[in-house]
Order: sequence, then structure tokens, then C-alpha cells
Amino acid sequence: MADQLFFKSQDKLSRYAELRPQLEALIGSETDVVANMANLCAALKEAFRWFWIGFYIVRGQELILGPFQGPIACTRIQFAKGVCGTAWAEQKSQLVPDVEAFAGHIACSSLSKSELVVPIFKDEQVWGVLDIDSTKIADFDHTDQIEIEKLMTWFATCL
Ligand code: SME
Repeated sequence: MADQLFFKSQDKLSRYAELRPQLEALIGSETDVVANMANLCAALKEAFRWFWIGFYIVRGQELILGPFQGPIACTRIQFAKGVCGTAWAEQKSQLVPDVEAFAGHIACSSLSKSELVVPIFKDEQVWGVLDIDSTKIADFDHTDQIEIEKLMTWFATCL
């Protein structure tokens, strides 16, 4: 296993393209899902330096905090609550340019200004979500949504 990730481009789309084969090498050779979630968060943090990146996993009627990179965060989120619970309930990604404009947003940190939450599907059910937060307003765009969705579709095949 390589002990370092390499990125040569500054351009976002190229960076996603550079990240993918490195993640495949890192995660594709490991079967432990917790280890893989942890490394995936660390790799995204290294590639994009976002404020917070983490998994929430469906357990009954709640999402429970999984591996993450960033400051401490809310442990439990109820179905349909917050941006994460909405992504679960609606079974679709939530691209939130300004978290203060999202009714019911759960503020784990007052520093978080924009957010992208992408659901992860297993057996056609939401298994969990990947939540990404930025300290900048409107830091995520459609490209991020598409690329993170592609990454989570692939990651779901590793579950
Ligand atoms: N803001 C999220 C809660 C999780 S934290 O951002 C890490 C939400 O509204 O669901």
C-alpha cells in the first residue's frame, strides 16, 4: 500500500480524476468497511481540504456518526432531520450553498457555511450518507455533487 497520495493538478475535476485510482488501490485491497470509510475521509480531506468530511450510517430510525475527518460532530441524526436526514428521507443528494437558508439544518459547527450530502445505497436502500462541510459559502457545485455521487456509487460496491 502506498503511504502517500499524489496530486499534481489544481483543477478540481482533474483532482477527482487523480484521486479515484488511488482510492481504488487503497480501498479495493481492503475488506474492512470501517477502515475504508476512515481512509476515504482522510483522502478527501487531503485532496480538497474541506472543513469536515464524514459518514453517517443508518441504524434503525437514526443516522449514527461514522468515521470522519474534522472537528467533533453530532452523534445521532433522526430520519428526515437536518441536511443528512433529508438526504436519507428523499434518497437524493442535498447541495446546500448556504446552510442558514436550509430549514432545519443541524449546526454541528458554527463555522460550517455550505454543505454537500450524498446518500449511499445498498440493496436499493439508503445505507448511510457522506456529509461534506465547508467554511465557505457555496463552496460546492454541480461538479462536486456528480463526482462525489460517482465516488459513493463505487464505494457502495465495496460494502
Ligand atoms: N449539518 C448536518 C449535521 C452533520 S454536521 O454538519 C457534521 C445536517 O444538517 O444534517
